[in-house]
Amino acid sequence: PQDSKLKIWTEEDAINAWPSFSPFAHKGSFGTGYIIAGSDHMPGSAMLAAKGALRSGIGKLIMGTSQFASAILAGEVPETTYEFDGLEKTASGFVPEKLKAAAIGPGLENKNYIEQAVQNLLKEDFPVVLDAGALQKREYKKREVPPILTPHPGEFSRMTGLNVNEIQSSRIQAALQYADEHDVILLLKGEHTVIAFPDGEAIVNLTGNSALAKGGTGDTLTGILTACLCTHQNVKEAAANAVFIHGKTADLWVSKYGARSMTASDISDMIPEVMKYLE
Ligand code: APR
Ligand code: MG
Repeated sequence: PQDSKLKIWTEEDAINAWPSFSPFAHKGSFGTGYIIAGSDHMPGSAMLAAKGALRSGIGKLIMGTSQFASAILAGEVPETTYEFDGLEKTASGFVPEKLKAAAIGPGLENKNYIEQAVQNLLKEDFPVVLDAGALQKREYKKREVPPILTPHPGEFSRMTGLNVNEIQSSRIQAALQYADEHDVILLLKGEHTVIAFPDGEAIVNLTGNSALAKGGTGDTLTGILTACLCTHQNVKEAAANAVFIHGKTADLWVSKYGARSMTASDISDMIPEVMKYLE
């Protein structure tokens, strides 16, 4: 689009956009998030998203996952509450009260329920993140806070019909065009993640490296993003900071240990080091 605006998200931007919290804060001040992720065969997706959210400062987290996955998570992330079979329940209309943000997509098996769960979340007025299994070719109603879609190039290809080479050779253009045409925030993952907004602005993030090219790192991002949407007033800043933090953990990891050893779980373990810069 001709009137588009391009911004590189710097460390200074991240620090400026990081919300300062009152000494009188309570868990309600940091917001409640709801993440529908994981299933019997992929409990790890829910685990990674939950850890990402909890380390990024979410006030309260509700995980909508299978009963089996919940049992696995509970020992490791005791801070979370559970909505057993959240996917199926939300498909039939259940949405927890007083949410600041929600996300749906990583590690979902029961594909028949995804579309209706997505539609029910989008009826609400809080920010909604759509990732992985929740990404499809689909039209979106104009919404006060546009849906936030987080495809990797392969998923973006499935959504658009463009092939991955076409996408990768014009990432910013392709993301901006989709955001404009569908009234969504399009966060196109990969090296130098692009976040395109329906108003024509695009933010490019420079943190991160190929240590993140591993299974599960995207699930962690979904958690971080959900937390940032709960704590930031501004959705653009929340999205940019989430991607910045996610990438920065990998940069710190590589400077200490090199790239190959990093796993998706290590992202959450490194988040406190990044927070030290931001707070
Ligand atoms: N440089 C910088 N960042 C990178 C690089 C790189 N070379 N490679 C990957 N990343 C980052 C991406 O920007 C993104 O944030 O790592 C993350 C990878 O996310 P996904 O592609 O969603 O990967 P994954 O977590 O494995 O997804 C899990 O869900 O999206 C589906 O098909 C996917 O089944 C898989 C599952
Ligand atoms: Mg993914």
